[in-house]
Amino acid sequence: EAAEKGGYPHFMLKEIFEQPEALRKTVAPRIKDGLPDLQVEAFTDELIRSVGKIHIVACGTASYAGMIGKCALEKLVRVPAEVCIASEFRYNDPILAPDDLVIVISQSGETADTLAALRLAKEKGIHTMAIVNVVGSSIAREADSIIYTWAGPEIAVASTKAYTVQMSVMYLIALKMALVRGTLTEEEVRRYCEIIQAMPEKQQDILAQSDTCQYFASRFQNAEHLFYIGRGLDYALSMEGSLKLKEISYIHSEAYAAGELKHGTISLITDHVPVVAVATQEHIYEKTISNIKEVTTRGAKVLLVVNDRFEVKDDIADYILRLPTTEDVLMPLLAVIPLQLFAYYTAVLRGCDVDKPRNLAKSVTVE
Ligand code: G6P
Repeated sequence: EAAEKGGYPHFMLKEIFEQPEALRKTVAPRIKDGLPDLQVEAFTDELIRSVGKIHIVACGTASYAGMIGKCALEKLVRVPAEVCIASEFRYNDPILAPDDLVIVISQSGETADTLAALRLAKEKGIHTMAIVNVVGSSIAREADSIIYTWAGPEIAVASTKAYTVQMSVMYLIALKMALVRGTLTEEEVRRYCEIIQAMPEKQQDILAQSDTCQYFASRFQNAEHLFYIGRGLDYALSMEGSLKLKEISYIHSEAYAAGELKHGTISLITDHVPVVAVATQEHIYEKTISNIKEVTTRGAKVLLVVNDRFEVKDDIADYILRLPTTEDVLMPLLAVIPLQLFAYYTAVLRGCDVDKPRNLAKSVTVE
C-alpha cells in the first residue's frame, strides 16, 4: 500500500496533488482547435438547442460539483438548471418535461440512488447524460450520453480529484451549449477554453502553498463547530469545503449563504466558532466582506480565501489565503484546493483516519 501511495502519507493527499494532471487528462481530449468538442454520442446540436431545463442529479460530493455546474450553466447558457439529490429525486415524482435534460454525476458510477434516478428519467423518456469516472460502470452503461472524467482511480473515501474533474466537465458542457445556443460568442468560448487549459499550472501554484494550509489547519484544529460562508459560486464551493472537513475531521461544520447568516445562524457564532469565508466573485465579494465583519464582531476567528485581484485589507480576517486570479466563473477550480488541504491537514492534526473515515463507504451501492 505504501508503494501505491507514491510517497504520500495518505491517498487523499496524493489525490489532491494529482488534480492538475487529472484536469489536463479530462479537458485536453475535449478541446479541438480551441473549441469544446465533447465527442458525446447523442448530444447533438439539435438536442442542445431544444433543452428547456436541466436537472442535475447526484449524491454527496458529486452533487456539489453539480451545484457549480448549475451556476455555470445558468450564467453562461442562461438555461434553467436545478440540482437534486438523487435519493430525493427518485421518490419525489419529479416534474420532467420532454425537452428537459437530466445530467447524473457519479465518481463510481454505481451509487444506488443515482442509478435509480437515471432509470426513472429514462423511463419517462427524458434524455440522460452521465458524468462518470469508472469506465464501464452501471451508470455509464445505461445513460444515453456518457462523458468520462479521467481522474484515474480515487481510493480515499473523501472525494477530491473526482470533484474537480466533474466541475471541469460541467464547464465544458456549459461552453458547448453556450456556443451552440449563441449565448457566448465563439471568441468568448475560445477564451474560456484557453483559460481552462492553463488551469493546471495555476492549481500547481496553489498546491505549492500547502504548508500555509497546514498552518491554518493548526490554528483551527480544536474547533468543535465551524461555519463556511460565501455567496453564489462561493456558496456552492463552501458546501464542498464544509463536507470535506466534517467527513474526515469530525468537526461539525455548516456551509451558509453569507447573506443568510443574520437570519438565525449568527446566534451560534462565538469566539469558539471559527468561520471560513470564500470570496472569489467580483460582483459580490464586498458583500461577503461585510458578512465577515459581522462575525468578527461576535468574536469569530476568520480564515478568508480570496481572489488576489481584490483589494482586501490584511486586517479584515485573522488569516488570509490569496488565490491566483482567473475568470470568476472558473474560480472554483482553484479555490477548492485550499479547502481540501485545510480539511486534510485538520483531520491529520486531530489524529483521524483520513483515508477511511468512520461509518463512510467509498461507493454506496445499497439504498
Ligand atoms: C459516497 C462517498 C462520497 C461520494 C458519494 C457519491 O457517499 O463517500 O464521497 O461523493 O458516495 O458517490 P459517487 O460514486 O456516486 O460519486
